[in-house]
Amino acid sequence: MANTATLKIEGKELQLPVIIGSEGEKAVDINKLRAETGYITFDDGFGNTGSCLSKITYIDGEVGVLRYRGYPIEQLAEKSNFIESALLVMNGELPTPAERSSFSQLLTANAPLREGLVRFIQSFPRDAHPMAVLSATLNALGAYYPHLASNNHQNDLEHFDEAAAIAISKVRTIAAHTYRVSKGLPFNYPNPKLGYCENFLHLMFSEPYSEYVPTPEVASALNLFLLLHADHEQNCSTSTVRMVASAGANLFASVSAGVNALWGPLHGGANMAVIEMLKAIHADGDDGTKFIAAAKSGKGDRLMGFGHRVYKNYDPRAKIIKTSFYKALASLGIKDDPLLNIAMKLEECALNDPYFVQRKLYPNVDFYSGLIMRALGIPENMFTVMFAIGRMPGWIAQWREVAANPKLKIYRPRQIYVGEPQRNYVPTNLRQG
Ligand code: CMC
Repeated sequence: MANTATLKIEGKELQLPVIIGSEGEKAVDINKLRAETGYITFDDGFGNTGSCLSKITYIDGEVGVLRYRGYPIEQLAEKSNFIESALLVMNGELPTPAERSSFSQLLTANAPLREGLVRFIQSFPRDAHPMAVLSATLNALGAYYPHLASNNHQNDLEHFDEAAAIAISKVRTIAAHTYRVSKGLPFNYPNPKLGYCENFLHLMFSEPYSEYVPTPEVASALNLFLLLHADHEQNCSTSTVRMVASAGANLFASVSAGVNALWGPLHGGANMAVIEMLKAIHADGDDGTKFIAAAKSGKGDRLMGFGHRVYKNYDPRAKIIKTSFYKALASLGIKDDPLLNIAMKLEECALNDPYFVQRKLYPNVDFYSGLIMRALGIPENMFTVMFAIGRMPGWIAQWREVAANPKLKIYRPRQIYVGEPQRNYVPTNLRQG
């Protein structure tokens, strides 16, 4: 394989180093391009830009591969759980029993919210979007734990475990408290005897005189949902976290920015869009056939939950989540849900239709995750919040990778200016129109 690439420009020839990743990914290093030629590169939307060297997650979208720290997602889904995989993603190795237990203690100790944070959440309007509340409250953690949010990476890294446990534990409590406020319901306090997912469901759904106890299948579906979302390399929210971190910002400020990026409908909102699509199909009296025909003609809406920018094969997460979804449905006794029937019909049609097959449009993780959230009783406006809870370990790992980089440079892309050339100021009385 070549270890340099030759660029000829304005009669000049430049040798650009080639970087090969550990899975054979090839990149041309253009770091010296501008200094040596005056040129920059143009890559609208960064679709062809490697923004960093990272050891966290590997994706091969052509064959449908996803690995956290080298471990295939299928193995982690079968043998691990969300918290263990979170430690793997954040620290680089599967935890020893002692590391696992000490992190669990940190999670338990940090599950409750300080009284001021509870009041902060209560102060939002009842119909506030939970992503707005989540982002603001995660950022406010920096005010409550200033020793973890000094904006000095070296100092903040010394307290990494505590800060990571606070973010992972409290994101769940903040989300559940926000939901309870929106419904005008009393808060539930975290139960130190419960595991991460069971505790979240308790915080959400227990009532003063009736403790919510999920079936093992429901708790395991939630665990899997979170595990499958734990990291997905340089997507929009993760790149945002790294960008903010590159300026020296603390963990809480950085992940709060990640939540804002995730809020966008092109990123974290697809699982909600799947449910909206199914509802619209149902309201139209369609079984999915008309909708598919319209999507294929290009005149109707796209089939939400199908296709992926990176996966041109089955999204490996979708395959895994589908099985657990059916188990959770059976344990909840859900058999004849009209939206579910439509979803199954859509999936069957699309997987056998040449339009979708030729374009390599397979179900993505959002197709099933929206259905799972709905079956668990999570309201639609909380779907993206659930994604954020799952993605927290990935954001933390990516923040750490940036903060611990001894050669860290602030992220500062360039642009190609296409506005007005230089012109002179026009006094108000001489302006036309
Ligand atoms: N339904 C119908 N046709 C589609 C769909 C779809 N869901 N997705 C792509 N196509 C068609 C598209 O019209 C185009 O057809 P043609 O070649 O005839 O013009 C072809 O497939 C390629 O489309 P594209 O827009 O160039 O593909 P992309 O890789 O840029 O888009 C995507 C990827 C995810 C934005 C797109 O597939 C889509 O809009 N899907 C529905 C929304 C969705 O489910 N998003 C969740 C993605 S997973 C989120 C995550 O991992 O964070």
